[in-house]
Amino acid sequence: MDEKLTIIKLGGSVITNKNRPLTPNKDAIRKLARVISKIQIPLIIIHGGGSFGHYWSVKYDMHTKPEKYNSKGISIVHSSMLELNRIVTEEFSKENTFPYSIPPFSFLSEGKPLKRKIKELKTMTENKIIPITYGDVVHVGANTYSIVSGDVLVTLLSNILKPSKVIFTINVDGLFNNLHDKKIISEINLSQFEQQKKSIITNTVCGVGDVTGGMKRKMQEALKIADKGTDVIFINGLRSGNLKNVLTQKSLKIRFLKVRNELLIHD
Ligand code: IPE
Repeated sequence: MDEKLTIIKLGGSVITNKNRPLTPNKDAIRKLARVISKIQIPLIIIHGGGSFGHYWSVKYDMHTKPEKYNSKGISIVHSSMLELNRIVTEEFSKENTFPYSIPPFSFLSEGKPLKRKIKELKTMTENKIIPITYGDVVHVGANTYSIVSGDVLVTLLSNILKPSKVIFTINVDGLFNNLHDKKIISEINLSQFEQQKKSIITNTVCGVGDVTGGMKRKMQEALKIADKGTDVIFINGLRSGNLKNVLTQKSLKIRFLKVRNELLIHD
């Protein structure tokens, strides 16, 4: 395990307004960048699509399943992600950090991770560079494309780089066990999850739709990562103090910090 490396997923619901197409939340991005600028640890950042990538993916009926999608759709989803990535890196630069934008296509081949390229991302962090990659539409072979969620990229990178911590920022404070009891799940471990997984199938409400599986996908990826021994933490990224707290703590089990009502959990 790499004791120093942390991977942070900036959820699309944090960095964009998911109810308004193509609307970034620059204030939220800047506040998170400010926290990160004060922390001297190697970081890799992965951001989601929010009301950029998801908006166009829904319009052109594009999904995670590899298929021959409409070429205009492929092009427009990708350029909307480039645009969002440009906004994210710009806000990070304004806070005196050194972001370096990396399209996922550069470390994937036929949809599979290129180990050597991914290891380079880690090397880059040694010099205060912050590699920033993102969920995107990628070519997986023979004119077949797939929407690759940033959450899946977090797992791919974690498998190879073995960070000590993975932080998912979302727009709520955590999860309920179910809608009936509305009990807060403040911390779970893998064996508990096996018992609870029927009741923590989750979904978030969002205006532009979500083609990569919402909270359920995040949970699935989180559990895969935690299974390999990495601490996974979910925080509300709209409260930037959370990120500061989590980055300065040493070791945490898979944990969901508090819960608020916006999150719908279906039985
Ligand atoms: C989605 O990435 C990328 C596209 C739709 C092109 P994510 O699945 O990581 O996005 P969020 O964080 O849920 O918005």
